[in-house]
Amino acid sequence: MTKNNKRALAIFGIWLAVILLLAAGAALRTGMYNRAERQLTLEGEALYNIPDYSALSVELTKEPGGWSAELGGVTCDAYTLTPRITNPTEEDLSDYRVRVDVLEDVYFLTAWCGTIEFHQGVASGNEKVQTIDLRSRPELYTLDTVETDEDPLIPLYAGDYFVYIPSQTDGEAPLPAGETCTPGIMYYQAADAGEVFAFVPSAPRAEAAEEGDVTAVLSARSSTWTKVFDLEETGSEVPDYQAYTYDLTITNRSGAELTDYTFRFSFRTEAYLASAWNGSVEICQGTVTETIPDLRSFDAASLTVTTVNVDGEDFIPLGEEDSFVYTPSASQTAREIPVEAGASSVPGFIAYLRIGDGLSSPSLTMEYQLHRSIGEDNLFKLALGAGAAFLLCLVIFLVLYLQRLRYERQHEHDAAIIRESIETFTGFIDAKDPYTNGHSRRVAEYARLLARHMGYKDEDLDRVYYIGLLHDCGKIGVADSILTKPGSLTDEEFEAIKSHTTKGRDILANFSSIPNVAEGAAYHHERYDGRGYPEGKKGEEIPEIARIICVADSFDAMNTDRCYRARLSREKILSELENNIGKQFDPKVAEIMLRLIRDNEILL
Ligand SMILES: [Fe+2]
Repeated sequence: MTKNNKRALAIFGIWLAVILLLAAGAALRTGMYNRAERQLTLEGEALYNIPDYSALSVELTKEPGGWSAELGGVTCDAYTLTPRITNPTEEDLSDYRVRVDVLEDVYFLTAWCGTIEFHQGVASGNEKVQTIDLRSRPELYTLDTVETDEDPLIPLYAGDYFVYIPSQTDGEAPLPAGETCTPGIMYYQAADAGEVFAFVPSAPRAEAAEEGDVTAVLSARSSTWTKVFDLEETGSEVPDYQAYTYDLTITNRSGAELTDYTFRFSFRTEAYLASAWNGSVEICQGTVTETIPDLRSFDAASLTVTTVNVDGEDFIPLGEEDSFVYTPSASQTAREIPVEAGASSVPGFIAYLRIGDGLSSPSLTMEYQLHRSIGEDNLFKLALGAGAAFLLCLVIFLVLYLQRLRYERQHEHDAAIIRESIETFTGFIDAKDPYTNGHSRRVAEYARLLARHMGYKDEDLDRVYYIGLLHDCGKIGVADSILTKPGSLTDEEFEAIKSHTTKGRDILANFSSIPNVAEGAAYHHERYDGRGYPEGKKGEEIPEIARIICVADSFDAMNTDRCYRARLSREKILSELENNIGKQFDPKVAEIMLRLIRDNEILL
């Protein structure tokens, strides 16, 4: 495996480790997020907090009713006030309020849909507040009233105001995006009065900015049902308790799924719990605690908590310190849990409270858990992206690797053909002289070794090897009798021997695929001091490849038996090499050869 491949594999390994770390981090974070126990505590006013109704567009229009009445010595005309409430946003408003200031005296007769929170006597400093359905019976009014021949009226004076609370059951809330609703209120105002109402646009409440991931808003709707809770049996027949329907709108703003919640609710006043829907209820009455699976149908006789029976109906009395815990139902029909991201669940219950106590100071503690899938975690998304990029890069790497492997195999195959062809050819040359058998290959190997130690690059070493192999190819044109002659040579014979250099150059002249191959053959008998042949080149004039082959060739000649002498001893070879530094041999090449012999890298 090449260095580059190892580096690539290391990068892939680190990359994979980073992906796994990111995924593990995402799993850990999601696990912690999902296991976290969360709590929401709201008291009194905060429970009725309406998140943000500044988005509402309200147009107050009024139409004359066509009749008049004498009120406080003033002739007053009847009118219908119709607030056109529009939701101009792109989101459904689950709950909202409309506050209207009163500019001159008015007298309320009735209204349809919704309930009204009256603030009476604000200017006089003796404020009375009551939230009431104007269709209720007047005996439920705790506000000051003005008696008339027909119905008692609720007066509001300049400086007073009222808040209109839309009805969930009559379809005024939630108010879908872009929709309009028009509840109506019937009232009297002085005949000569001008504008008597002013809509008050509300700024978002400060708390709205700090809203949590889950919000709870309580809507207490008074009803027209009343009862006489004459528990001390005084014989009173005046209704003193009124039914309220409590809707708790739990909205999941977290972006995750609200998987589980329970809430503990306390009226903080004397109340009689009548019913609750869907979920189960755990009653905490004094020191007694009891779970009732379904409060819509409970058998009072079998309960350990105290119950009371009024007009044949059973109630569970709860004092100021008492509370109940509501556990929502997950059944298919109820589906109070889980609550999807952005959705709401509205569990509710009905209780009887003393008339006028409806909106006292309840408290709610909600415990809940959120659940989100690991796929929503940013770290996981990052890991996913990194994983996709990893796979893509891995595929590209493998394709390139296989292509390169195929290319290398082909290259090796081609190189083997070239090497074997040249070796076969040089075998012919060596075969001409049995004493020099294998000479060409050995010279080629020594030349390659020298070149490596001289700092030649890997890709050049094969070239040096081939040039070494072919350095004596000119001998093919020299007679065998001369090459193998054991005795001394005549001048003609010596000239014939010397001609193997130029013959070699001529043979290799067109061998262009191995650069400098002809130079190796032509000049390997040149001497560094200029006394060699065929041209008498000296020093650096002699091509470096020829200087390398010169040392390799001479070393092999000394290290093998020749027809005219036996091989030389190690010491003799070393001394010959040393003595010829700068004479026959390039000092740089010869020094390397000496070092290789002394270090036993070339074994003799
Ligand atoms: Fe030679």
